[in-house]
Amino acid sequence: MAMTNGERFDEERAGKYDAWTRKTIPGYEALHDMAMFFIKTGMENAPETPRLLIAGSGTGMELSYFAERNPKWTFTGADPSREMTAIAKRRLEERGLSERAEIHTGFVHDLPESEPYDAATLILVMHFLPDDGEKLALLESISARMKPDSPFILADLHADKNSPKFPRFMETKKARQSATGMSEEDLEKWFDDLHANIHFVPEERILELLGEAGFKDVERFYNAILFGGWVARKG
Ligand SMILES: C[S@@+](CC[C@H](N)C(=O)[O-])C[C@H]1O[C@@H](n2cnc3c(N)ncnc32)[C@H](O)[C@@H]1O
Repeated sequence: MAMTNGERFDEERAGKYDAWTRKTIPGYEALHDMAMFFIKTGMENAPETPRLLIAGSGTGMELSYFAERNPKWTFTGADPSREMTAIAKRRLEERGLSERAEIHTGFVHDLPESEPYDAATLILVMHFLPDDGEKLALLESISARMKPDSPFILADLHADKNSPKFPRFMETKKARQSATGMSEEDLEKWFDDLHANIHFVPEERILELLGEAGFKDVERFYNAILFGGWVARKG
C-alpha cells in the first residue's frame, strides 16, 4: 500500500517542506502563479465569490498564494497529513486569511458532493499514488465535486520509466540537487526515496486518466525536467 494518508509528510518532513520544494522543484512558485491565472481566466461563468477546492493542500501554498491575490475567492483544502495542515492553518492565521479557507484533515472523498466547486487544483500529489485505481479514484473524487466547465489544474512528476530519457533526466535532477549543497548521504537517500515512492506514469497515461475521470480540453502549460502541469475543464 502506498503512503497515501499523509504519513510521508510527518512532522520533520512537513517542517522542512517549504524550503525543500523551492530547491527541488524548478519554478515551484511560477507553477502556482500560472495555475492561479489559468483558474482566473477559466472561471468566466463563476459567481463573484467563487469557491475553490485545493486537493492535497499541504502547507498552504495554493491557499495562501491565491487568497492573498484574490480577496473574493474562498477555499476548501483537503489533506490527510495532520502536520502539513497544521502548518497551513498557522500560515493562513498569521496572514489574516483563515476566514476564507477551511482545511479538512482528510481526503477529498470525505467532502460532500452537494455544493460543487468553481475550480480545483491537485498540485504535486497524484505521483505519490500507484496507478492501480488510486490515481483515478482521486481524480474522480475531485471531478465529482466540480461544476461543469470549471477549470482544473494538475501538476505531477511524470515519465516513461522505460524511455532512455528517464535515466538521463533523473541524473540531471540529481546533479542539480547536488549543486544546492546537499550532503552525499542525503542526496542518495532522496534519490532512493524518489525511485521507491514516486509512481511515475507517462504523459499519455495522465491524459487518459484525466479523460476517464471526466475532464476535457486538457493542455500542458508547465514542464520542468520531470514535472508537468496541465490545465483542463470538468466535462
Ligand atoms: C508535495 S505535497 C504538495 C502540497 C501542495 N499542493 C504544494 O503544491 O505545495 C503533497 C501533499 O499531498 C498530500 N496527500 C497525499 N495523499 C493524498 C491524497 N490521497 N489526497 C489528498 N492529499 C494527499 C500529502 O499529505 C502532502 O501534503
